[in-house]
Amino acid sequence: MKLTGPFKQLLTMDHLPDKGHLSDDQLEIIPDAGILHGEGKIIATGNFNQLKEQYSTVSVEWLEGDYVALPGMIDVHTHICWAGSRANDYAMRMSGKSYLEIEAMGGGIWDTVMKTRQSTMEELADLVEQRASRLLIMGITTIEVKSGYGLSVEQELKILSAIDFANRRSTADLVTTCLAAHILPKDFKGNETEYLQHICDKLLPEIKKLKLANRVDIFIEKSAFSLQAAKVYLQKAKELGFDIVLHGDQFSTGVATLANEMNAISIDHLEAANDQEIEILSKGNVIPVVLPGASIGLGEPFAPARKLLDAGTSLVIASDWNPGSAPMGNLLTEAAILGTFENLSMSEVWAGLTCRAANALQKTDRGILKQGYLADIIAFKTNDYKEILYRQGQLRAGMVWKKGEIVL
Ligand code: NIG
Ligand code: FE
Repeated sequence: MKLTGPFKQLLTMDHLPDKGHLSDDQLEIIPDAGILHGEGKIIATGNFNQLKEQYSTVSVEWLEGDYVALPGMIDVHTHICWAGSRANDYAMRMSGKSYLEIEAMGGGIWDTVMKTRQSTMEELADLVEQRASRLLIMGITTIEVKSGYGLSVEQELKILSAIDFANRRSTADLVTTCLAAHILPKDFKGNETEYLQHICDKLLPEIKKLKLANRVDIFIEKSAFSLQAAKVYLQKAKELGFDIVLHGDQFSTGVATLANEMNAISIDHLEAANDQEIEILSKGNVIPVVLPGASIGLGEPFAPARKLLDAGTSLVIASDWNPGSAPMGNLLTEAAILGTFENLSMSEVWAGLTCRAANALQKTDRGILKQGYLADIIAFKTNDYKEILYRQGQLRAGMVWKKGEIVL
């Protein structure tokens, strides 16, 4: 057991509703706080001096200077298992070609698939581990990672195994999602329905058997899979016991109804979502996940985060870190920028990175600093939490604890 502190401010992120708008005065802020923790979990939070008196024999992890503490961030949408670079795509985009034009010219996702297929499982596991530790020292203590650059049974299994391998070696927790339905692979002899059927028959049962993932994702878009084909695929994935998440409404709309019908956990992207889509989402429980890094990477509009919250949905913010559309991989910077463009309160941004993000991964043990939750804690060297988003990612986490152990 250990008492860590004192923190000038402790933002617990407790007692906030799961959905709808939030104002900053709803934040629970404990001044001059301490966190008592043991065996990776929080035992108590409260005034540092009072905790010290109450637990007088416990060892103290003293912090010199002013720190503001928050729950470790949770990035619910990444594609960090890839090889190669798409700097050429980026150069073409900067000079005016669109993402979909570049895809049609042989760049895009398929280019990364070709490079990722050439890497071994061990090489990919190393890459995932390196990227996960880069995220961890930025304060991201839980990271979702998708497959999707293999696009054959064998190659997807290699990628999912690499993520699994990296998870065993990483301090951050990785949550794996199967995105074998990223695009129709150019070397598959058959149409989208046949490919998805093949994945259902040959890949998904194997993933279950090997316990490599519990979540299935699909990219629904003109350049990827149709709504009709996706519906059949997702129904089968559900029957096999997978949770469903969707890449939807990135460039064209119409995915919200399917998301509700499928009881998807989240619908991610939404840059193109219109009022009708927002209204549909407001009637269900699907969590909208917005990906400002993809808007910044592609020069596309941000997803309508303000309107979503005002319509009463949840709002989670993730990085989408990938070699194509979202190469930055800096969640805090991306979230701060989204906040200014979409008029989000600081509490809405932080909820989207912590407590509400935990819901999108169905993790009930993190995202809030309170008794019984994981001691996944980040601390910034400042005396006012507002400084963090104000500095747009340039004020980095000065200290990070994963399950109570200091990693930075
Ligand atoms: O979420 N939209 C589809 N998939 C990824 C991009 C992957 C890539 O371009 O390599 C995304 O933006
Ligand atoms: Fe994505």
